[in-house]
Amino acid sequence: MEPGTPSTSAPETVSRAMYERLQRRYERLMEISRQLNSTLDLGALLRRIIDAARELTDTEEASILLIDPATGELRFEAASNLSRAEMEAIPVPMQGSLAGWVATHGEPVLVRDTRSDARWFSRVDQTTRFSTRNLLAVPMNLHNRPIGVLEAINKRGDQPWSGDDRDILAALADQAAIAVQNARLFQQSDFIAEMVHELRTPLAALRASASLLARPALPSDIFQEIVRTLQGETERLTALTTDFLDLARLESGRTRLEMARFDVRALLDECASLIAPRAGERGIRLTVRPGTQQAHADRDRIKQVLLNLLTNAVKYNVEGGSIAVALDVRSAAQPPAQQPAEQIVISVTDTGPGISAEDQPHIFEKFFRASAVAGRETGTGLGLSIAQRIVEAHGCALWFESAPGAGTTFYFTLPLAAAAS
Ligand SMILES: Nc1ncnc2c1ncn2[C@@H]1O[C@H](COP(=O)(O)OP(=O)(O)OP(=O)(O)O)[C@@H](O)[C@H]1O
Ligand SMILES: [Mg+2]
Repeated sequence: MEPGTPSTSAPETVSRAMYERLQRRYERLMEISRQLNSTLDLGALLRRIIDAARELTDTEEASILLIDPATGELRFEAASNLSRAEMEAIPVPMQGSLAGWVATHGEPVLVRDTRSDARWFSRVDQTTRFSTRNLLAVPMNLHNRPIGVLEAINKRGDQPWSGDDRDILAALADQAAIAVQNARLFQQSDFIAEMVHELRTPLAALRASASLLARPALPSDIFQEIVRTLQGETERLTALTTDFLDLARLESGRTRLEMARFDVRALLDECASLIAPRAGERGIRLTVRPGTQQAHADRDRIKQVLLNLLTNAVKYNVEGGSIAVALDVRSAAQPPAQQPAEQIVISVTDTGPGISAEDQPHIFEKFFRASAVAGRETGTGLGLSIAQRIVEAHGCALWFESAPGAGTTFYFTLPLAAAAS
């Protein structure tokens, strides 16, 4: 209070103090918003939003869930109270969760006692032993459409929530939605730069071939050779553009999965017969081990995953080697929400030279191709990135085991269909 200002009555002092506190909070929000827009690293950005949410609402924890357009489910992308593995293992359904309610209604909710709220999705607490006592959840809207939900959890000292808490978190969520969109667009533009770079090699080969063809009186063997290069490079360009589009769609979440029940054994046989001619050319024996299961997944997408794994097993194998495809069921360590506790595991084992310890961490990176094979076999280096995204969009996992010199086995899990009723 400035010197000389007449003393105010008690209620006015309270309201003035409240006003000042509110003003401080909004100043802080402005400061945070500026910081949010200064990073394009999505992971770092999400962590900053979480910290800001806790600070501005004076809560113990906070979390961000973003809508996964492929499945329509909400996924934890950052949470101060959950580990990465826990976040990945627990998709949150749109129906039957507070976050889902907020995302579908586009309105905030203030819940004083989560346990007595019928919309509460208790699975997070059950699987993590974390205790959600009360929470405030607001939608993260972009152009009036929700992209996710920001939650502030457990008010410190279990103080009552106020309308100001709700307003400030809603304002933060709006800023956060814009920053998330910017970071996503940046990731996308990074991909476009890589893509253009990859297109340059086949284009340069096409250009060189075309100018050679323009020369008069080419000997016929050279002519044939140039035509072969033209054919090979146009095929490579076609494969590249298809893969780019596929990956860009998967990354931006514009791929919708067509989930249905199907017989896995029939799919394995179908893929094996498609690959058999190529395997035969290299004298590679391909076997599908006995067994059958019903899966609940997008059959065409899973076929795409299998065909890439099998093509790799042929390409990166030795002449006269073998490939074994097997199907198993195992109990899932962390089954995706609303899926059976058991999962199908499909494996593709080859007798190739394996993947060196140095290359192993990079196998799923876009455009990565082991230098030992890159010159020998054609490929874009996108097959495994695409396969991994497809499997993950099902809430499942893709991984491999490889000992250099002793072959490689790729594994992936699939949701087991519920028993037929
Ligand atoms: N079974 C395997 N054995 C050994 N190396 C493998 C195997 N599968 C994949 N790799 C290595 O991983 C790299 C990436 O595989 P990926 O399927 O993503 O791309 P690609 O086969 O090169 O091209 P494409 O996009 O046409 O599939 C390969 O280039 C190869 O070096
Ligand atoms: Mg491949």
